[in-house]
Amino acid sequence: MELRRGVLVTGAAGQLGTALREEFADSTIAALDRSEWDVALPPPADLPPVDLVLHAAAWTDVDGAEAHPQEAAAVNVGGTQHAAELGAPLVVFSTDYVFDGRKGQPYVESDTPSPLSVYGRTKLQAEGAAGENAWIVRTSWLFGWTSTNFVRTMLRLGAERDEVAVVDDQRGCPTYVGHLAAAVRELLDRPRGLWHLAADGACTWAEFAEAIFEEAELDCRVRRIATAELGRPAPRPACSVLRTDRPDAPRLPHWREGLRACLDRLSRST
Ligand SMILES: NC(=O)c1ccc[n+]([C@@H]2O[C@H](COP(=O)([O-])OP(=O)(O)OC[C@H]3O[C@@H](n4cnc5c(N)ncnc54)[C@H](OP(=O)(O)O)[C@@H]3O)[C@@H](O)[C@H]2O)c1
Repeated sequence: MELRRGVLVTGAAGQLGTALREEFADSTIAALDRSEWDVALPPPADLPPVDLVLHAAAWTDVDGAEAHPQEAAAVNVGGTQHAAELGAPLVVFSTDYVFDGRKGQPYVESDTPSPLSVYGRTKLQAEGAAGENAWIVRTSWLFGWTSTNFVRTMLRLGAERDEVAVVDDQRGCPTYVGHLAAAVRELLDRPRGLWHLAADGACTWAEFAEAIFEEAELDCRVRRIATAELGRPAPRPACSVLRTDRPDAPRLPHWREGLRACLDRLSRST
């Protein structure tokens, strides 16, 4: 990888921000959480010069964005604009939720986005705000060893209950943040532009929950339900599996391997 010394990570306390800080520990000069830089505002005046910005800060509350579209846009679109204004090469993170899920097959970079939700629309607009100097990384269903995420929630519920109800009509690629951060490092040797970086394989949330209980040896059943039963404010794509049509794209391991790596990491941190 081309050597980059002065890496700035935004959203550094989030699950991806944490993994990026670790992956780029040798070259990170600033890892800023929301209290240090609210990205809806212009960058702090006292930032050191940076060679690369890894922009992981975002409004990620998909349902909350429906009730607060302007606030979500201020963070996701405005925040990306502010990160781009730093003038350094930039990596931004976008989402499978820019697609409506109606293709019925995996989405590649050349597919036309059509977001269903406010969150998806703000992330699509953020892609436009990232500018020419950016790698735009679309990824999906992130999980890691920090923050609130599906794996950590299932581990908690699986230890408390005999059964959990999980939706079985959304299909995607659960992606381990450690694998994504390593792929981002590889990506820096590739041209800027749009890249799909998600775990190999695909499953539904219910299948993912079953895998979590199996790998963690938790005796908890999964009751398969439909998304409509949850009555969530934001619509989700039914099938948002991401694949790449770029032959030189970094390849991520299978989601099950990511799950094992995450559980291993969690077991070492408790
Ligand atoms: N999670 C997923 O499944 C998923 C899927 C596809 C793409 N992505 C994208 O991947 C990126 C990383 O997501 P993640 O999963 O790591 O999310 P996360 O764990 O929610 O982290 C996002 C971080 O951004 C921070 N943040 C929110 N508003 C901010 C603001 N105004 N200024 C500065 N920081 C702010 C949050 O801080 P607080 O905790 O203080 O709010 C949080 O630490 C995002 O761009 C997201 O859209 C995520």
